[in-house]
Amino acid sequence: MSIEIPAGLTELLQSFTVEVLRNQPTDLLEFAVHYFSDLKDSETSGAAFGNDQNSTTRPGKAVNFIEETMQYDSENGEEEDEDDEEFVAPVINRFIRRASVCAEAFNPDEEDEEKEPWVIHPKTDEQRQRLQEACRDIILFKNLDTEQMSQVLDAMFEKVFEVEEHVIDQDDDGDNFYVIERGTLDIFMRADGVEKNVGSYDNKGSFGELALMYNTPRAATIITTSPGALWCLDRLTFRRIIVKNNAKKRRLYEAFIETLPLLTSLELSERMKVVDVLSSKVYCDGEQIIAQGDLANCFYIVESGQVRITMKRSRTKKDQEDEEVDIATCSRGQYFGELALVTNKPRAASAYAVGSVKCLVMDIQAFERLLGPCMDIMKRNIANYEEQLVTLFGSSTDIEDQNA
Ligand code: CMP
Ligand code: CMP
Repeated sequence: MSIEIPAGLTELLQSFTVEVLRNQPTDLLEFAVHYFSDLKDSETSGAAFGNDQNSTTRPGKAVNFIEETMQYDSENGEEEDEDDEEFVAPVINRFIRRASVCAEAFNPDEEDEEKEPWVIHPKTDEQRQRLQEACRDIILFKNLDTEQMSQVLDAMFEKVFEVEEHVIDQDDDGDNFYVIERGTLDIFMRADGVEKNVGSYDNKGSFGELALMYNTPRAATIITTSPGALWCLDRLTFRRIIVKNNAKKRRLYEAFIETLPLLTSLELSERMKVVDVLSSKVYCDGEQIIAQGDLANCFYIVESGQVRITMKRSRTKKDQEDEEVDIATCSRGQYFGELALVTNKPRAASAYAVGSVKCLVMDIQAFERLLGPCMDIMKRNIANYEEQLVTLFGSSTDIEDQNA
């Protein structure tokens, strides 16, 4: 007996699932009732339905709320913010910050977004250059096209900080995403009433994306430990550009991510969060991806092509340079660069592209936050490295030296 799947059912359920994953509603049934009623309304009013997962119209209510409450000063082209002088945040943020994050239902693909004014903070050439430099390695910005990147740069504004300032407090609503221009900051997380330092930022990196991406309260407290400066991106611009881009990324990588043995211990929603923080990077033949001995801040999954892993072996004669020996090859679906992140040591080996290679790259904070459940698989693999080296070199002293 063959069962016929009604036309549109797959798209309908896929779109609904995407919205559930995006919004993480506490009451699924309630969310479903609203979702499908709004969908029906939008269909009756002539909206397109079905083909694009993101075009399934989510309620326009929140967008209207923002439009109604937003005061845009068209004379000077900038939003006013009377009660947040020090932070110079656009007024758009002020209203969104006041709204409950859970109630927000802004759909970045909503057609109405076209009507919203883009946030622009004018900058001097010197400021723009510093901003571009600070944003160069920000993974969340890596997949943006030129126009999107320039909209992001236009919207960012600078905030100088002194020591011991709270940039973010755990459980607050999310207002901005932050890129570090200079300075150091500590990350604290509170669990069962106990606050724990879980990491730090040292003159580079970014934070504050989670509350904006998933409409959740702030997951950590970030406190400055030196004077410095941050570049801030308001919530609305972040969601219009980064969240919209992430939705595209999810569609693009969904199938590939499902095939990765490393991620089998993660739930579907966790795997989608992994996709959100990955950026795709292309390397040309022979290009070095990792250098043995370097400090590590990224993890890699091979999307296409082959990656050659090599290790230096000392020559017996003193005046001879170290020889680089091939120790492994990684191809599509395999990962590398985890060892230094797990052991907190310099890179144990080098990695080179063989032909043209595409890798998905994840930064150390996301690696630590998201891949904890995959640690068993990684550790089993790390145990194999030793065997591999014994087979190649007769002993594993080289890797032990690296990790000493
Ligand atoms: P957000 O939740 O918006 O605000 C606090 C930020 O701390 C969070 O986004 C992350 O960018 C950052 N952060 C750094 N380390 C962690 C961690 N281990 N868990 C959660 N958030 C973290
Ligand atoms: P990492 O030390 O961060 O950077 C180099 C990577 O090479 C390492 O992580 C592993 O992912 C990978 N690698 C593959 N085989 C080996 C091996 N035998 N010893 C060490 N690293 C290896």
